[in-house]
Amino acid sequence: MVDQGLLESWTDDLDFERVGAVRRVLKSLFFHPLANHLPPGLLKAILRFGKSELAASNWVDPGGWQSMVISYHGRPEQIADKILVGAGSMAMALRNRRRLGARLLARLIDTCDHEPAHALCLGAGPGQIITDALAEATHEAYATLVDINSDAFEFGREIAREKGVGDKVRFIRGDVREIHEMLGHPPDVVKMLGICEYLEDDQIVSIAKAVAQHMQPGRAIVFNSISPAHGTDRFFRRVFGLHMIYRSPQKLQALMEMAGFSDFVSIPEPVGVYHVVVGHKGD
Ligand SMILES: C[S@@+](CC[C@H](N)C(=O)[O-])C[C@H]1O[C@@H](n2cnc3c(N)ncnc32)[C@H](O)[C@@H]1O
Repeated sequence: MVDQGLLESWTDDLDFERVGAVRRVLKSLFFHPLANHLPPGLLKAILRFGKSELAASNWVDPGGWQSMVISYHGRPEQIADKILVGAGSMAMALRNRRRLGARLLARLIDTCDHEPAHALCLGAGPGQIITDALAEATHEAYATLVDINSDAFEFGREIAREKGVGDKVRFIRGDVREIHEMLGHPPDVVKMLGICEYLEDDQIVSIAKAVAQHMQPGRAIVFNSISPAHGTDRFFRRVFGLHMIYRSPQKLQALMEMAGFSDFVSIPEPVGVYHVVVGHKGD
């Protein structure tokens, strides 16, 4: 079981991206009002003209795995994406969440009392976070990655191979709302990063209940809360078609508690959008 102090000691050397005070003021006085209140048709035309890959990927699959890959990469060619991806608060927060999630998962694997540890990743996309963690962990581990969209898997296998963990990942196409039908080896750690914001409360509780029934007491679940502190929710909804459900860490913890998890500890990333939370299966 991990406590707040231990979790902080695991993550205190991480190199996070931050928004400086001047940039924060400029964003809230200038960029965010423009993005949120200019007509969506005009913004879409500008993004289309600017060949924004981030916008194009969201128009095909709002909040999908490709938009995540573009945001994680962080060094786009197009001017529109240099603003959205390079300097956008949401993209910076996403990269911070990836660093935080990967480090916590790596240490949870390392503190598991047996090897190989098994990580079950729900809404995993190509698995960039868990493959970072598998590559960083010193203990033996493998991961089962579940996603509704199998387009992500080939790219996922390729990046896993590049990180030297190609033989440690297994991809399953499936809807996490039906996870009870897919559960195999009991997981030592369950990862729900980047998925709860697309699920209703009752869906989160039923997914967490299904995995909890399969876990030993004391095993961990890792998930993230999300706050609209990035300042551009209206833009995301109207221009990208992205509808996220915002929940505080406390609200999500209450849902996870209904499924049998407790002893939560949470770590914020410095842009103020995400907390990554670790909970434990109760007795
Ligand atoms: C925002 S991406 C997050 C990807 C990855 N977890 C990360 O944080 O980098 C959300 C992923 O969840 C998947 N997804 C959304 N709803 C799902 C569902 N009901 N069942 C399985 N996967 C789902 C999407 O296909 C997408 O790959």
